[in-house]
Amino acid sequence: MQCIDCGEKWTEQPIWRCPKCDGLLEIKFKLSAGDFDLKKARKQRLNLWRYADLIPAKKNVSLNEGGTPLYECKNLCRELKVKLFVKNEGANPTGSFKDRGMTVGVSKAIEFGKKITTCASTGNTSASLAAYSARGNLKCVVFIPSGKIAYGKLAQALIFGAKVISIEGNFDKALEIVFKISNGEGIYLLNSINPYRLEGQKTIGFEIFDELNHTPDRVILPVGNAGNISAIWKGFKEFYELGIAGEKPKMTGIQSEGSKPIVNMFKNKKEYIPEKNPETIATAIRIGNPVSWKKAINAVYESNGYMESVSDEEILKAQKLLSRKEGIFVEPASASSIAGLIKLIDKGIIDKGEEIVCITTGNGLKDPNTVVDSCKNEIIYAKEEDVENLIKKL
Ligand code: F0G
Repeated sequence: MQCIDCGEKWTEQPIWRCPKCDGLLEIKFKLSAGDFDLKKARKQRLNLWRYADLIPAKKNVSLNEGGTPLYECKNLCRELKVKLFVKNEGANPTGSFKDRGMTVGVSKAIEFGKKITTCASTGNTSASLAAYSARGNLKCVVFIPSGKIAYGKLAQALIFGAKVISIEGNFDKALEIVFKISNGEGIYLLNSINPYRLEGQKTIGFEIFDELNHTPDRVILPVGNAGNISAIWKGFKEFYELGIAGEKPKMTGIQSEGSKPIVNMFKNKKEYIPEKNPETIATAIRIGNPVSWKKAINAVYESNGYMESVSDEEILKAQKLLSRKEGIFVEPASASSIAGLIKLIDKGIIDKGEEIVCITTGNGLKDPNTVVDSCKNEIIYAKEEDVENLIKKL
């Protein structure tokens, strides 16, 4: 592990920040052509462990994660005049991209002899950690912000047998508490500050290249705690360093208007200032102080990418559009990538003709309440005798 600030190297052990300067840690490899043979890897089915040679963990626990569909969105391509693909991470075992991080992270917990896993979560991380901990015979305790977690995610954490602790306050508060109790001895922290999580999630970048057989111009995704954008960028960089890919994509992160500290930093060219009271309908990314903000902004600058924010209204509109034009149902946070795409096309930041992959991070069924609320005026209440007439009007 290497500190991204002071460059100090640390041997494999459960630490979350650089003991010398408190910087974020990342797993560093010396990569040279020949370290990974994509042609050989392609003989195995498309999933995360196809890239095992580039993952610093033994597969101790897996639910067959990764290998998610990359859909070409022909209807939206026509409408938006870009070449659009959606990488649907909602098709992972617990319905979000977190499973990629957890197969690696929980495998590491087992390797380190840990008995208890923990995380703070807006929902998906807790659902995923609970599932992988159950399968790995580990105890799991998750901290969630009270009242602001989508029901599907809460249901998952509960049914997988995690101890669910509901904290008065938001995700940022829950994360502070988790840092205090994760002492590195018994309890293993599996938020995305744990660099092994990102080693799993970087495979999204590998898969996009693997499926397209080239690098897209741009990748757009929602940003919450800012781990995923950092991880995917690392994946693309590794394929580039290996000489597999000849290009790297522009990494483009989307936050919601009510919680956009990284967007503010990017647009105002100012220092990072956390948002004290984050608020958005996209509860998954309702985060005011993203722990990996520095890795994320580095990814955006290094890749010549962009950061944009979208309103709740734009998110809900994009969620409907993606469902109704392409048959892909994603949760509100995930729809922010589509909302961001539309906004950046309107602003002229994205060129017509660009090839873009939007990452939809979580399944729509995670948060049915938001959908029913936004669509309930579309329900037609009718008596049997009215039906024939209604059908005629379709
Ligand atoms: N999309 C969804 C559906 C998420 O659940 C999250 C994060 C993100 C995007 C943002 O990813 O944090 O890596 O920038 N959810 C976390 C959780 C915070 O607790 O489930 P990020």
